[in-house]
Amino acid sequence: MSLIMLKDIALPEHFPLPQPVSAEALAADNQLFDRVKDAIVQHKALLIAHYYTAPIVQRLAEETGGFIGDSLEMARVGKDSECTTIVVAGVRFMGETAKILSPEKTVLMPDLASECSLDLCCQPEDLKRVKAEHPNATVVAYANTSAAVKAQSDWIVTSSLAVELADYLKGRGEEILWLPDRHLGSYIANNAKTDVYCWPGRCVVHDSFDPSGIVELKKAHPEAKVLVHPESPAEVVALADCVGSTSQLLAFSKQDDAPSYIVATERGIFYKMQQACPNKTFIEAAIAPQGVTLDGAKCPWMSLNSLAKILECLEGDAEQKAAHTITVPEDIRRAALKPLDRMLAFSAALKSGSVPQDL
Ligand code: 13P
Ligand code: SF4
Repeated sequence: MSLIMLKDIALPEHFPLPQPVSAEALAADNQLFDRVKDAIVQHKALLIAHYYTAPIVQRLAEETGGFIGDSLEMARVGKDSECTTIVVAGVRFMGETAKILSPEKTVLMPDLASECSLDLCCQPEDLKRVKAEHPNATVVAYANTSAAVKAQSDWIVTSSLAVELADYLKGRGEEILWLPDRHLGSYIANNAKTDVYCWPGRCVVHDSFDPSGIVELKKAHPEAKVLVHPESPAEVVALADCVGSTSQLLAFSKQDDAPSYIVATERGIFYKMQQACPNKTFIEAAIAPQGVTLDGAKCPWMSLNSLAKILECLEGDAEQKAAHTITVPEDIRRAALKPLDRMLAFSAALKSGSVPQDL
């Protein structure tokens, strides 16, 4: 088994991080809670929020019959819902995924500039070139990619299914070209024990977790278990008691009996962890010195999901609404739908206990 890191891929030197929101602006935004709640109910919209959004956004989803989940669950729920208006609070690839799966629905996002550094690391024209260099490889793209990249891929996968899919493809004798997260690529290669051609992208948040800082935290909290999202570096993964997607980490914290946890993923997840386990302590994992531009384990783009912007999605004028509406060109949508449908079929087959060889 080996990891073959792809060369000659120009990654952004700096990511265009949005300005952090001031405490005053946040407090003013929180005042809108009841108004936004009424608007969601009146417009019969479904609010689908990722675990990394601010606690108040997750509470809004809870109190309006919406949904909070990981990226796989968000995709599934948006597709299965009968609501014709969906507000996706997350980052742009999550809104695009909802639109690809449900073209007949209006998919709104609080801020279309909610990037993801992984998405920014993988440009469609680079993928075209790399595919030509590896014509026999099966292209497996992480969900954290643009619609245009998904459209060129054989499979889409989220972190909750990545190792299982790599194992499945290994069983079919397929060579994997994985993109765009280097750490998840390495995790897949190690766990499925298969060769992986790996894109060198990174998540600004998870790439910044610091193994030596986590070791220090462990010394101060010897009773704590360590929960790690697989977008983190291998040295951080090596310290984990549980490695998994956001939902898998949350499920572990609920079932496990440790009194405290050091959590190496985005801090928004603490809302659901603390709600499910009020008597347990959750400690944010340490960030390495090179990650100091971040405000701790906080995704700068997830923070763009404010209540004011959710209100504007629903009650803004036509121009404002257009600025919140996800559109995907139809040719790209159709091409991206195939690997996304395959992911959903694979996930359902895994759950049922038998995956056909010819998915
Ligand atoms: P999940 O699929 O685990 O929700 O992860 C999405 C993500 O963006 C992680 O940084
Ligand atoms: Fe992307 Fe990282 Fe933010 Fe997740 S935490 S959305 S991978 S930048």
